[in-house]
Amino acid sequence: MGRIFINYRRQDSEGYVGRLYDHLVQQFGVDDIFMDVDSIAPGADFVQVLEDAVASCDVFLAMIGPQWATIEDGNGERRLHQWNDFVRLEIASALKQQKWVIPVLVGQAQMPSPDMLPDDLQAFVRRNAIELSHQRFGHDVEKLIRAIKEAMPANSSIKTRMDTETQRLKADQLKAVRDDLVRATDSPLYAYRTENRYFPVLGEGNPDANILFIGEAPGSREVEQGRPFIGPSGDVLDEMMQSIGLDRDDVYLTNIVLDRTPDNRSPNREELAFYAPFQDRIVDIIRPAVIATLGRFAMEYLLKKLDLPEKRGKISQLHGKLIQATMPYGPIHVLPLYHPAVVLYSASQKDTLRRDFEKLKLFI
Ligand code: URA
Repeated sequence: MGRIFINYRRQDSEGYVGRLYDHLVQQFGVDDIFMDVDSIAPGADFVQVLEDAVASCDVFLAMIGPQWATIEDGNGERRLHQWNDFVRLEIASALKQQKWVIPVLVGQAQMPSPDMLPDDLQAFVRRNAIELSHQRFGHDVEKLIRAIKEAMPANSSIKTRMDTETQRLKADQLKAVRDDLVRATDSPLYAYRTENRYFPVLGEGNPDANILFIGEAPGSREVEQGRPFIGPSGDVLDEMMQSIGLDRDDVYLTNIVLDRTPDNRSPNREELAFYAPFQDRIVDIIRPAVIATLGRFAMEYLLKKLDLPEKRGKISQLHGKLIQATMPYGPIHVLPLYHPAVVLYSASQKDTLRRDFEKLKLFI
């Protein structure tokens, strides 16, 4: 099941929102209802923060009370017409991102006419509304819940339940990829691997994870044990994951190149091309809701493969930005992150990395 975002203006519809929230929680579970964007850090781009919050929902409910379009601020200006009004920014973002937007009329409100709305909300008036009345609240909410369920993509990419059967099946599929990797004698790194008695490192974690991390290539510790991110970069990664309440078991960790490169040099074009089909198979098995790339190699590979407008962007511009994309199995997001090793060279980057990791909370 996917996620539901409730957009509302406190003075206008608060009495109804609380009641609606309680009903929706009973039906969908508390983690799937998103109501208030958490505090926005000083210096953060709040428009971007709201866009990111909207990006992770499947259904967007816009609560419309009797004063929704007309409420004014202290200077007599209509709030809905102000560029920085959160209600407006969230709805405009949901429309722009082509979310399933349901206007929910409360307190006998009517749908606004287009001339009452700013340009970026014009498309809103064409969305079919549902009314919630105090007298028939339970019955009306049932109707709304049916509409929400119909609107949820059957294959919403955010998975909420641990399905052990699926996990087992996916673990077997990943094992088959690993077997092919072990036998990949045509790999440009095969001779180096076997001469040094190294293991290839396919990956580790929950085979049905919502969050997939793709790093660069295993280092010396990793190839001695055949496990990703167990050296110093792995310590940083663990710390970052813990800062948002994630465990290794919640995610899947892999690399864009699955063998160690000599002296840990950057992977070259031939190596990247060789391991790309392995990477594609891993993604298609796990089917994550978000792929967090660690470092520029994984980022460049994915943005180019998905042919995204950002494909020529630099990591210094794109880190921490949630980018929408489509995989054959459904919609996903890509989150470029700096490689955890940057923190080992420049401690000041730790805060940046930690802030960027916060974006993953939307997928937990
Ligand atoms: N360990 C990994 O597994 N990948 C990296 O990119 C770095 C260290």
